[in-house]
Amino acid sequence: MNAPHKLPPQPQERPIGAILVESGRLRAEDAERVLRLQRERGLRFGDAARELRLVDDEDVAFALAHQFDYPYVAWGKSAIHDAVVAAYQPFGDAVEALRGLRTQLMLRWLGDPAARRRLAVVSPTRGDGRSWTAANLAVVFSQLGERTLLVDADLRRPAQHRLFGLPNGSGLGTLLAGRSGGESIRRVDGLVNLSVLPAGPQPPNPLELLSRLPFPALLDRLGVQFDVVIIDTPAAEQGADAELIAARAGAACVLARQNASATRPLVQLAERLRAASVNVVGSVLNAY
Ligand SMILES: Nc1ncnc2c1ncn2[C@@H]1O[C@H](COP(=O)(O)OP(=O)(O)OP(=O)(O)O)[C@@H](O)[C@H]1O
Ligand SMILES: [Mg+2]
Repeated sequence: MNAPHKLPPQPQERPIGAILVESGRLRAEDAERVLRLQRERGLRFGDAARELRLVDDEDVAFALAHQFDYPYVAWGKSAIHDAVVAAYQPFGDAVEALRGLRTQLMLRWLGDPAARRRLAVVSPTRGDGRSWTAANLAVVFSQLGERTLLVDADLRRPAQHRLFGLPNGSGLGTLLAGRSGGESIRRVDGLVNLSVLPAGPQPPNPLELLSRLPFPALLDRLGVQFDVVIIDTPAAEQGADAELIAARAGAACVLARQNASATRPLVQLAERLRAASVNVVGSVLNAY
């Protein structure tokens, strides 16, 4: 067969067939059958593959998302917890709201070229949804092609290693204590631009670790390595960690849980952050 001379496809034009084969969703020999049917009947590759029952709708959606450089992962085929909806359902309502928040943040950051794109997700009380929001926000930033790092700075009740199915033998705590290095930062399979720094084993002295000089120095280094750094924090009611982390990050997104968060602690938290020169760049009402 004469192969036509063609320029290599641009990243956004990677053929659906190649994506399906490379991701292990379609065998190379089956791809040939699809190509034949595609030619005979003038179908699109995805439709031909579906007609031959070699792939399902989900496979095609996966390939399309990848074709447009919009990575997401498939249900049941990833270690990522299903609470990280942005990794699974790039077009759902909840994810739409997260993308709205992403836009809000981007506009503020874009308006200020000196802005360090480090954001602590804070809230007054436990269970407000900080970890959920931080995880999903990090995913939607990464899907935009931003090199994104999610840091679990809740050294008291860490969540991100569970949400992303990652080991937690080392992490922020051990890094700050000088007991681990860059290997504690882990890539997330299937989400090419996302890395996670889990919290690591619970240290006896979280606040002290976060108060010391290595923490801001680490954030500065990470700010060079990554375009966006999203930081999960403990509830403000649990101690001074959250405010300290937000002050080190320089910017915070304040979260409240609809019909559950009392107004007073929320206003007080926002006031304390501003007094500590934290740029409160976003506020979210978690309607969950
Ligand atoms: N917007 C949302 N949509 C769906 N589920 C949500 C949402 N926000 C939070 N949740 C769920 O609510 C629960 C509590 O959320 P999460 O763990 O993020 O809260 P938190 O503020 O980090 O709590 P903690 O104080 O324990 O750290 C989790 O099961 C989470 O998956
Ligand atoms: Mg949490």
